[in-house]
Amino acid sequence: MIIRLLSIERHGLRPAYPAVCLAAERYVGLPPPRSCLPTNLAAAMPLGCEIRCRGGATGTRGPIIDRGNGRNVRHGVDLQETPGFAAATCRTLHRVTDDDLPEHVRLNRAYWDTYAPDWVGAGERNWARPEPSWGIWDIPEAELHMLDGAEGADAIELGCGTAYVSAWLARRGARPVGIDNSPRQLETARRLQREHGLDFPLLLGNAEAVPLPDASFDLAISEYGASIWADPYRWIPEAARLLRPGGRLVFLANAFLFMLCSPDEDDVPAGDRLLRDQFGSHRYAWPDGRSVEFHLPHGEMLRLLRRSGFEVEDLVEIRAPESATARFPYVTPEWARRWPSEEVWKARLAGDEGVR
Ligand SMILES: C[S@@+](CC[C@H](N)C(=O)[O-])C[C@H]1O[C@@H](n2cnc3c(N)ncnc32)[C@H](O)[C@@H]1O
Repeated sequence: MIIRLLSIERHGLRPAYPAVCLAAERYVGLPPPRSCLPTNLAAAMPLGCEIRCRGGATGTRGPIIDRGNGRNVRHGVDLQETPGFAAATCRTLHRVTDDDLPEHVRLNRAYWDTYAPDWVGAGERNWARPEPSWGIWDIPEAELHMLDGAEGADAIELGCGTAYVSAWLARRGARPVGIDNSPRQLETARRLQREHGLDFPLLLGNAEAVPLPDASFDLAISEYGASIWADPYRWIPEAARLLRPGGRLVFLANAFLFMLCSPDEDDVPAGDRLLRDQFGSHRYAWPDGRSVEFHLPHGEMLRLLRRSGFEVEDLVEIRAPESATARFPYVTPEWARRWPSEEVWKARLAGDEGVR
């Protein structure tokens, strides 16, 4: 955790813990509040982080305002009793360990650490690309406009992997931060940063609970990162928390129709039959038990985005180009010419400022 903080400070971002402690000290002399820290400052602390106040009150950062299933899930510090808080000095005590992570996040960390070497080549190619292109069919940025308005924006890539999207953002004049759950993916990202002479913060962490303050970013983006590997009922409200009013959320994932037609075996391509139920679709634990993905039906995704404070601006169903060649065994170009295998959601946090 200390390493994470230093890395944030090195890049001039507001360090989370000192900000929280300063705010707590500003309460000196004020009547003790029931719930100790303002939500936006408490949110800057990592989940599981404990604070102690002189006078004996203690609290742990956890879900205190949780209106359930995707409705603005927020986290804060709920002090047990607050008699000592008026004279509080707050100290953060311990780091979040792997044991504190939700089960799917732990599984996916092990999975991505194992397979990170297989993604080095793609990372290298994408870092070296002069122009961004997206997804498995390499759709040019000029067609998809995922990075519109990036210049000058504070941007966060949720599930950055080898962080080539963040590199594209940096080259377009944005100030990206990448967060990823896999230490080994981040090792590749750091090496590529050095080789390409680009430096931006890379954080090890869960996109469902990002240790950065509210309203820090103008753009949150994910290409096959949090968009399929994190629980949408957690990461989408978290993206809303991280964005400033008017900020954009853009993410690319497998198309929902494609998921319905995909067999369990990932070396067998999707066919022209529905193999899964649409109703209740959420968590996909693959038969090998090594990883977990998440896929919501469109109506459910739309409602979740709206409940989290977003206005949906577009849903682009990607069609493979005529020239497409097969890159992965799970979908053929012929299939993806008839039906969408990938989709892009574009949404904007309610409010009138931000990236246009
Ligand atoms: C396919 S990569 C995405 C990066 C890149 N755009 C790509 O397509 O290669 C998926 C990444 O999501 C990360 N990931 C999975 N679950 C995550 C979570 N809960 N929080 C942050 N990153 C996560 C994995 O560690 C992995 O590096």
